[in-house]
Amino acid sequence: MQTPEKLILENRAWSEEMNRKDPEYFSRKALVTKPEFLWVGCADSGVPAETVVNAQPGEIFEHRNLANQVIMSNFNCLSVLQYAIAVLKVKHVIVCGHYGCGGVKAALQPQSSKLVLANKWLLHIKDVYRLHQEELEAIDPAEKVDRLVELNVVEQVYRLAHTSIIQSVWKHGHKPTLHGWIYDTQDGLIRELIKLDHNTRIHPIYQYTD
Ligand code: CO
Repeated sequence: MQTPEKLILENRAWSEEMNRKDPEYFSRKALVTKPEFLWVGCADSGVPAETVVNAQPGEIFEHRNLANQVIMSNFNCLSVLQYAIAVLKVKHVIVCGHYGCGGVKAALQPQSSKLVLANKWLLHIKDVYRLHQEELEAIDPAEKVDRLVELNVVEQVYRLAHTSIIQSVWKHGHKPTLHGWIYDTQDGLIRELIKLDHNTRIHPIYQYTD
């Protein structure tokens, strides 16, 4: 059984191991963290960003929430995005969803008053469902969750493109690229679903004119 004490012991062992392999590891990392990626991922413990792309501390700036969403009214999400773009000047923003996502599965269920806050968060995914209702209701029910997982990733990438933060740097700044990825929990592989850059034409109703 895992206990918090075991995690602290594992941390000590890891720190010693890293120091043994490379005595400058921590002092170097403390001085330079210049991530080139912002990762918007699901909070699910099965999809840890650094692990699945074999990255080191300092390489990925990360925001994780239920079902990897970009919510315009969420200060946490938008503050991370703004900091990553305006200060760290990350070159890529990656939204990574995963097949079998529990958040997406929950969004396909009726709402429960026990999970009133989580339901509000997942309402945005119900909206993605409604947007693609015709397609989703025509496919095999067993494939519905995973197709909605993919559609949700694509929708979140468009939401990024609809923020003033991204549109402003696409016009006047360093022009980061937006990616929508899907992680397959069956084989551990990532596939790209969508990529948007500063040449992407944003629908006029979402465009900032300044
Ligand atoms: Co998930």
